[in-house]
Amino acid sequence: MDQHTVLRVEGICKKLDGKTILDNCSLTVNRGELKVLIGPSGAGKSTLLQSINCLIPPDSGEIYLEGCQLDRTDKVALCAFRTQVGMIFQDFNLFDHLTAEANVAIALRKVRGMKADEARSRAQEELARVGLARRTQLYPAQLSGGQKQRVAIARALAMDPKVILLDEPTSALDPELVGEVLAVIRDLASGGMTMVMATHQMDFARALATEILFMERGRIIEQGAPNVLLAEGSGTRTRDFCQRLLEMGA
Ligand SMILES: Nc1ncnc2c1ncn2[C@@H]1O[C@H](COP(=O)(O)OP(=O)(O)O)[C@@H](O)[C@H]1O
Ligand SMILES: [Mg+2]
Repeated sequence: MDQHTVLRVEGICKKLDGKTILDNCSLTVNRGELKVLIGPSGAGKSTLLQSINCLIPPDSGEIYLEGCQLDRTDKVALCAFRTQVGMIFQDFNLFDHLTAEANVAIALRKVRGMKADEARSRAQEELARVGLARRTQLYPAQLSGGQKQRVAIARALAMDPKVILLDEPTSALDPELVGEVLAVIRDLASGGMTMVMATHQMDFARALATEILFMERGRIIEQGAPNVLLAEGSGTRTRDFCQRLLEMGA
């Protein structure tokens, strides 16, 4: 294994209700890379991201974190793995009855066993990092979608993850709020965070992806640098898909 490889996923397959959802998906993510998953709705992007941390257990395939193969049958190992692999969902998944600070602190207390004071101050630090220093005492209902997503990112960061998986983190947001969340993700990328992100934000992907993975019908059918896959005249499915998004005004 390359010493810079953080996450390696090998030959993931998944069937649901007898239908093939993931067909032999493999990917490698090196330290500091941002891999962007693109593809039509229903291609399997969410299923792939969720199989990587076994929220949806794959039928077959192997997952390696820093060269160590995950034993999915070992609950302790799976728990440890999940703390190191952050997950950001489209719809934030915050606890509505907890403040922003408590949403971040609860993981630090439960998973890291931190004392309340320590967890609170670490939560404040992480919230400041995503531009929410003055919003720590607000509840999700008092925050905009963009702010909620930034709380979710702060919560993931608080675990010191080795890699973060982001599943269309801006698709549930009003258009004017997309930018603030992308700005946070861009800062993470430039700070060297390792990430895999499903998105339809093609400008973002073009500017920041180390590599684009194009998925269709459960398979990764194209893979390459954005300037290669999206080049005019490249004749790639990725380029074609991107053009169609533009035509639809997405
Ligand atoms: N629980 C489920 N049972 C059966 N089929 C599912 C289930 N969840 C997702 N699917 C199907 O899996 C395919 C991939 O879905 P998904 O991973 O959500 O795609 P994407 O994120 O690329 O839009 C779709 O055809 C969807 O209908
Ligand atoms: Mg999806």
